[in-house]
Amino acid sequence: MSDLLHYDDKNMWQKSGLQKKDSLSMKHGLRAAHKSTEAHRLSGTQGWMEAPFSSKTRKEVERLASEIRGTFKRLLVIGIGGSDLGARTLVSAVGDGSFEICFLSNPDPETVSAFLTQPTAWWKETAVNVVSKSGTTLETMSIFLIVRDRLIKAVGTRIYTSHIYATTEIGTGALYAYAKQEGYTIVAHPLNVGGRFSVFTTVGLLPAACAGVDLKKLLKGAVWMETKRRTEGEKSLVARYALGQALAYESGAHIQVLMPYADRLASVGYWYRQLWSESLGKMCNGSPKGPTAVAAFGAIDQHSQIQLYNEGPKNKTVTFVEVGAFDASVCIPKEAHAVEGFSYAGGKTLTEILHAEREGTARALIQNGRLNSTITIPKITPETVGALLQFFMGATAYTGELLGVNPYDQPGVEAGKRETKKLLSTGL
Ligand code: PA5
Repeated sequence: MSDLLHYDDKNMWQKSGLQKKDSLSMKHGLRAAHKSTEAHRLSGTQGWMEAPFSSKTRKEVERLASEIRGTFKRLLVIGIGGSDLGARTLVSAVGDGSFEICFLSNPDPETVSAFLTQPTAWWKETAVNVVSKSGTTLETMSIFLIVRDRLIKAVGTRIYTSHIYATTEIGTGALYAYAKQEGYTIVAHPLNVGGRFSVFTTVGLLPAACAGVDLKKLLKGAVWMETKRRTEGEKSLVARYALGQALAYESGAHIQVLMPYADRLASVGYWYRQLWSESLGKMCNGSPKGPTAVAAFGAIDQHSQIQLYNEGPKNKTVTFVEVGAFDASVCIPKEAHAVEGFSYAGGKTLTEILHAEREGTARALIQNGRLNSTITIPKITPETVGALLQFFMGATAYTGELLGVNPYDQPGVEAGKRETKKLLSTGL
């Protein structure tokens, strides 16, 4: 398979950038990071590295998706965090628009109520995929119970259960017990995959397959990247990315921005932000550690954030994601020559404009001593998106190891959940 992803990090290492000598000790760390990640894979404790290889899961998901597409007109996905962002990313990046997918994740009464006021006919045509690994998450369970009530009103107590697909861990949690009691279709959330690493499990794949994403191609891309990580180890692109970001963090670049230049990849930034923040923001030997991940978006944020990135504190890295070729080609009319000061754009395509904007911004940043690098995918396809997301999961694991934090737990999230529960149980 030809390369699905390129990584250019020269703007991390130029004169005013990171020092090669500083990277030497981290390079040793990288070997250890690779070894430790492989140990997690081989012991089966981190299933996200094996997930893209599972044709059993793919076939089961494809079967469920064809049942849903054949019976209903849309899928309403209810979940939050890792049980939401991966699916959203896949649907918006590579869904083909042939089947409607809606998402409900925030318990905002106005948003939820807009769904509840949909007519009975709408609900009759809607399948619901409630997704929660733990099966206890307040937002998800609250919204789901409200939606279940509305569904019963619309379709009646006899058949409403046939509309509901519950993705959760088998054998644990309130959602599993309730789904079993009620008789929903239960979709297994693998025990050894954390929420933010679950995009290539049933969590991301079921909504994606319903949205018309070719799972075979998507997973092929992820497998391509994962195989490179395994075989190339500390020399892989994944490792090189982790080295640059970890070293930048240790050198004071505590804010790490991801900036894709394509509308269809905007949600990759939100998915990355959760993956990077929840995995890397931790206590390390009693001290707080972790880069702050920022989701930016090109070219829009050139007119919003770049001033800060270029002249504000030198405490950031910017990772651009560039798309080589788009599915559409749109040209600026030659008449642009007649517009004073705009003749340079006449006859150029919008792809050329986006490329020039990304490259121009990268150059301006490094000229100002601001660290940046660029990931390029040749086109937005299921294969390249598969490779891109697997790239970031691998990079997260290695960066966590380099920074000395456990990338796989999230005690800070759990702490917030516990406090909220206390407040709701004892009164605000
Ligand atoms: O990545 C994580 O572990 C979290 O962000 C979870 O995905 C999020 O809290 C939702 O949890 P659950 O899937 O258990 O409802």
